Amino acid sequence: MPDIAKGTSSDHKAVYALELRCFDPGMAFHERQIKDLLRNPRADVWLMRINNQIVAQLIVLRRRFRDGIHARIYSLTVDLAFRGQGLSRQLLTHALAELKKKKIRNVYLEVESDAHVPIQLYTSMGFSQHHVLTDYYEVGRHGIKMRKTLD
Ligand SMILES: CC(C)(COP(=O)(O)OP(=O)(O)OC[C@H]1O[C@@H](n2cnc3c(N)ncnc32)[C@H](O)[C@@H]1OP(=O)(O)O)[C@@H](O)C(=O)NCCC(=O)NCCS
Repeated sequence: MPDIAKGTSSDHKAVYALELRCFDPGMAFHERQIKDLLRNPRADVWLMRINNQIVAQLIVLRRRFRDGIHARIYSLTVDLAFRGQGLSRQLLTHALAELKKKKIRNVYLEVESDAHVPIQLYTSMGFSQHHVLTDYYEVGRHGIKMRKTLD
């Protein structure tokens, strides 16, 4: 049974190792960025463990706007060997429930427009397209801003 808990500073090496297993070094978070996120009071780094091993991470950033605090899903990664088992859905469900407890209603995220797997996941979790982010990742690589309202 997976365990989900907030990461702490002592997790930075294990989170970095997960990043390197899942992404090319140019695309992965740097160790310094992970340390900063783990210390950031406006970031929640949710870690899912199976048998004490980190198998997935989800990072949420919170920011205050005139109409209240908005949350942004900044990163979601499931370790390669653990994909296709419903773990991202479980982790996302947990993080959204925690945001709801904090009375945060608006949750946003950006995803690359041709990333069918995460788009399918987010859509099935109630996110919908808010607007297109032209050339967001680089020229010709567009993003989609998605939004979900927690009621
Ligand atoms: C996207 C990602 C987090 C999904 O994690 P996962 O644990 O494998 O996903 P789940 O098993 O929870 O599946 C959730 C849903 O995603 C979709 N999905 C998962 N694998 C899929 C596949 N191979 N093809 C199509 N849809 C797929 C389905 O909608 C699935 O729901 P369903 O099983 O009820 O049909 C994972 O593939 C990943 O880490 N990818 C690399 C990083 C990334 O793209 N992150 C998102 C950036 S915005």
